[in-house]
Amino acid sequence: MENGRNKGRAPPSATKTMSTRDEARLAILISGRGSNMHSIVDACDSNFLRARVCLVISNNSDSKGLISAREIGLPTKYIDHRIYENRESFDQALLSALKEAKADLILLAGFMRILTPLMIYPFLGRLINIHPSLLPKYPGLNTHQRAIDAGDKEAGATVHFVTPELDKGPVIIQAKVPILSTDTADTLASKILEKEHEIYPLGVQMLIEQRVTLENNEAIMNGSALPAKGISSA
Ligand code: GAR
Repeated sequence: MENGRNKGRAPPSATKTMSTRDEARLAILISGRGSNMHSIVDACDSNFLRARVCLVISNNSDSKGLISAREIGLPTKYIDHRIYENRESFDQALLSALKEAKADLILLAGFMRILTPLMIYPFLGRLINIHPSLLPKYPGLNTHQRAIDAGDKEAGATVHFVTPELDKGPVIIQAKVPILSTDTADTLASKILEKEHEIYPLGVQMLIEQRVTLENNEAIMNGSALPAKGISSA
């Protein structure tokens, strides 16, 4: 979704690369269950990622992920979007919390709020999302049912840079699963979720190691733009 406020204004280029600290500081934004958050935490704990989680933010106080993040001792913050007058003031609160936490990378992991450029531009190139479809197919919601209804033979998950156009930022990595005639939205969602847990840490690792960067609205790897579907995970 294009934000009308920015029409006519050139988007800034990607923000500075990460600091050279040994461990990247990851902030994870969630709204619900938090299974992708846990896949990132596990990847930090196992040293697959040279990183640690510096903050988990949820806009939902009942979020299972927020509760389990507290239980395992991660720094957490609940920011209730309903108390803010508009999207921008909520985003300002997010931005302040992320800056205070000195986050290098911001990972959206089932964060069900649309962000405005106010929040996106300061972290351009350092803000990524996981989405349960093979983008550019099925941005938005109900991705699994839409893939089934369309008669697609395959579905999957995508890790992509976040830019002001909803679910349209350059793709970093995708993973596919077959859609079987017996699949329902629920069975498909759980097959895709398994793939999400594989590719999100991989995508984060590529960013931490600066093997992929965002330049001029393209995902760049080894000096060339990645194809529209990014890298395919095996
Ligand atoms: C995941 O399937 C993620 O791809 C999706 O929400 C789920 C969150 O699960 N995200 C979106 O739909 C964003 N548009 P989780 O809380 O268990 O990680």
